Amino acid sequence: MAPETQPHLQPPPSWSAIPLDLAVLVLRLLPAYADRARFAAVCPQWRAATRLPLPPPHPLLALPNGTFYSLPYTKPFRFPGCGFAGYDSACGSWLVFSRDDGCFLVDPFSRATVTLPALSRVRLRPPNAVAKWSDVDDGRAKFGKPYTTWMHISGEPHKLHISKLIMCSQNLVAVLVGIGHTSQILMCQPGALSWSVRAYDRCKRFEDMAFYQGKLYAIATDENLLVANISEDHNTGNPQVSKIGKVIQGDPNPMYSAVFDDNTMPCKKIYLVESRGTLLMVRRTIWCQVPQPGGDIMAIQNEFEVFRADFEHSRWDEVTTVGDDQLLFLGRRCSRAVSVSQYDIPGDNILFLDDDEENHVQYAYEDENTSVSEYNLRFRFISSALSRISWKRGDEMRLAVWLFPQN
Ligand SMILES: *[C@@H]1O[C@H](CO)[C@@H](O)[C@H](O)[C@H]1NC(C)=O
Ligand SMILES: *[C@@H]1O[C@H](CO)[C@@H](O)[C@H](O)[C@H]1NC(C)=O
Ligand SMILES: *[C@@H]1O[C@H](CO)[C@@H](O)[C@H](O)[C@H]1NC(C)=O
Repeated sequence: MAPETQPHLQPPPSWSAIPLDLAVLVLRLLPAYADRARFAAVCPQWRAATRLPLPPPHPLLALPNGTFYSLPYTKPFRFPGCGFAGYDSACGSWLVFSRDDGCFLVDPFSRATVTLPALSRVRLRPPNAVAKWSDVDDGRAKFGKPYTTWMHISGEPHKLHISKLIMCSQNLVAVLVGIGHTSQILMCQPGALSWSVRAYDRCKRFEDMAFYQGKLYAIATDENLLVANISEDHNTGNPQVSKIGKVIQGDPNPMYSAVFDDNTMPCKKIYLVESRGTLLMVRRTIWCQVPQPGGDIMAIQNEFEVFRADFEHSRWDEVTTVGDDQLLFLGRRCSRAVSVSQYDIPGDNILFLDDDEENHVQYAYEDENTSVSEYNLRFRFISSALSRISWKRGDEMRLAVWLFPQN
């Protein structure tokens, strides 16, 4: 016979009394940021548990109209407050806004903000570069006319846009800024009054930029990996690019933008992503169907190849897997690898967006709506992973971005 139970003299223990390590065990099984946010909202003790070191949650998908999805959930996620629509870029947990009077970053998770100079405020380094720009490189002779430099693109009437922003450290922000397909690397210190640009550098069709092991790398469609040597301006103490050097010689396949006999044409996009301590280049091929004259070029299929930077031999080594525990979230504005070993979710997959905002070759899509797609590297097939999150294509909805909460 069970011993007689004592009458409850004490109130039952409160939920906040669960041991911290137990709370962490629960949190480690929750990949969705939305679940962790709800967990944190219960009481201060549980909030404290969410601040302990935990595997990273899945990113959020942001749409330009201010709607967020906390993956893997397909229902919109609401941040308290508003004002997150109409961003121009994203970087990690930051949304980037570029306005005529200044740029600023907002972290919707922590509410932190950072102020940056307006894109119209750029200092040329060196300041008297204007007279000398044309005799730097022999690219000019090859094409018979001077190449584009920063002075030219900043003088254009069209709006400059930030195609990539990287918060390298608390004191250093680097951006790729351009018009159409040309871009240039600018940098500044948060709170400074102006950006700096190395005036001698030729504007390139940079595809991506990454901050990897303390260095800033950039890549164009030629697949050469460039490293920017950053130094301090002796007069102002501001950061500037002092030199750009090539560290990996690319070997781009010349087939791109050629039309094949079956009327298909491959277009490509290049991404840089750090995964498990290595720098990866992802080459994305978008196969397009070229119609009879007058019709639209239609995107029909995506393919991905992944290469690891081999700095020692200055080359890209193709890899067939990124690891069973890794998901690569690819986006033109911000890409990241996320470990899923905790969550019983299959890895070795690439989750990607259309990223069709600045295509060199313009192509259209058959479907009216778009979504997040997933490419499995092992079996080389594509699925519409999150087809319940879908939105209508169109200029104002082009810039869907991944946002990566810090914890
Ligand atoms: C950057 O340039 C300076 C001066 O030329 C040089 O001393 C330094 O080693 C360079 N750093 C890198 C990372 O290349
Ligand atoms: C596209 O999405 C809209 C809602 O965003 C929906 O009304 C429409 O039916 C969808 N179109 C197709 C072809 O699925
Ligand atoms: C933003 O777009 C999504 C996807 O089409 C839609 O579900 C949502 O209602 C839109 N939000 C606003 C505020 O218009």
